[in-house]
Amino acid sequence: RPEPPREVWTSEKGSMARETATTRWPKIVQNMVDDLEESFGQSDNKEHIEEGRRIQATLRIIKGEIMQDNQLHPLSSDGCPDIQTYNAQLESFSNITWHNCPWLFAECYLYRCVQTLFARSQFWRDYDIFARQKLSAFIASHTAVQELSERYVSLTEATGALTTAKATNDTEAERLLFSEMTEVALWGNATDLSLLSALTSSSLDDLRSLQGSAAIREGQARIVSNDVPAAWDYLRSHRGAPQRRVDVVLDNAGFELLTDLVYALYLLDAGLASAVRLHVKAMPWFVSDVTPRDMDVLLSALADPAVFPGAGNPSVQELVKRLRACCESGLVSVAEHAFWTTGFDFQALPEVAPELHRDLLDSALVVFKGDLNYRKLVQDANWPHTTSFKDAIGPLRGGLKILALRTNKADVCVGLTKEMMDRVEEEAPGKAWVRNGRYAVISFSDGI
Ligand code: F6P
Ligand code: MG
Repeated sequence: RPEPPREVWTSEKGSMARETATTRWPKIVQNMVDDLEESFGQSDNKEHIEEGRRIQATLRIIKGEIMQDNQLHPLSSDGCPDIQTYNAQLESFSNITWHNCPWLFAECYLYRCVQTLFARSQFWRDYDIFARQKLSAFIASHTAVQELSERYVSLTEATGALTTAKATNDTEAERLLFSEMTEVALWGNATDLSLLSALTSSSLDDLRSLQGSAAIREGQARIVSNDVPAAWDYLRSHRGAPQRRVDVVLDNAGFELLTDLVYALYLLDAGLASAVRLHVKAMPWFVSDVTPRDMDVLLSALADPAVFPGAGNPSVQELVKRLRACCESGLVSVAEHAFWTTGFDFQALPEVAPELHRDLLDSALVVFKGDLNYRKLVQDANWPHTTSFKDAIGPLRGGLKILALRTNKADVCVGLTKEMMDRVEEEAPGKAWVRNGRYAVISFSDGI
């Protein structure tokens, strides 16, 4: 295995890391300040508001510290053991500042730091500072939600393509459906909210342009490394075995979560999985990531026409009914683990969370959604883009069966051929193809 290059630091001029540290982080923290202000307007409990104002003042201080490039200081304990781990890791980097630190660690630290403010409070302990943004972006996705529901329900009708392909053993049709459903889950990731740091009407238009079946079809040529054939061969050859649990390490709530739930239903309906387990983040994370509550928020929104414009659509209703039934029967379940919100990359999994690692070794396939999970898989290191995915995931290549579905939103990206690299650098120069979320990778490792 080639030696991993150094992980990305925010001090690197011209890097996405630097842009994030100097521009995006202050905006993201400002959005938190604004969100609290909105909540104050909806409360008439004085103590509640006063405590909220103290949290808000600390958020303003954090924003100032980021902008002035201050040093990162140890986190205050909020009773959870991961704080010590964060502080030990911070110490190992010795005296890092916001504009001169490992990007991956510092961004995790930022969200964990914000969480301590709420966790240490009396009235705001369960507050999700991103809930408002997540729900409004989901509501704005209603057209794509209806389209996807109609498509999936039609595939599984008595004469639908999925039902027919299974009944007639039409492997070519099955392969195409696998590809389509995998791409739906992939492009669902284009809509994370930390890139759209304020939900303006133009960013909502951007968001809509990334959703829907036409966008998915057009997107095929922009999958710069595509292991769908290998993933399909692997899943197909193991179909029918009694214990075929698929795990999905989720990324964003709202529309992306819906695409993941549809993917879960599809894997079950197609006989490719016997159960699906969804891994969520234990706290508000990277703006739009799924927390345990977001599953319920989504299903309730979809059932309430007063909240969600497409709730009356019969296919949406049918989909919600099926999803609820799968959750109730345990075919689809939700799991939480503190490892997913540490500052470690995933190559530390066997060492830092050995019981979770052992558990995932039993899984038929672990699907990792999104940009951050991908960066963590490849150690957020500046690999040459032609490095193979298996080389980049290091120790994880042995054992875990991994499928990464990621739209590119950060400089790190592997698995390209030289020809593809030349093509995309010409087509989307200035690193646009790794940064703007319009290109993507589907990477598979068979664990061997
Ligand atoms: O800011 C860090 C980052 O990982 C970006 O690279 C990306 O824009 C965003 O967070 C999250 O993207 P995703 O929701 O796909 O993980
Ligand atoms: Mg995310």
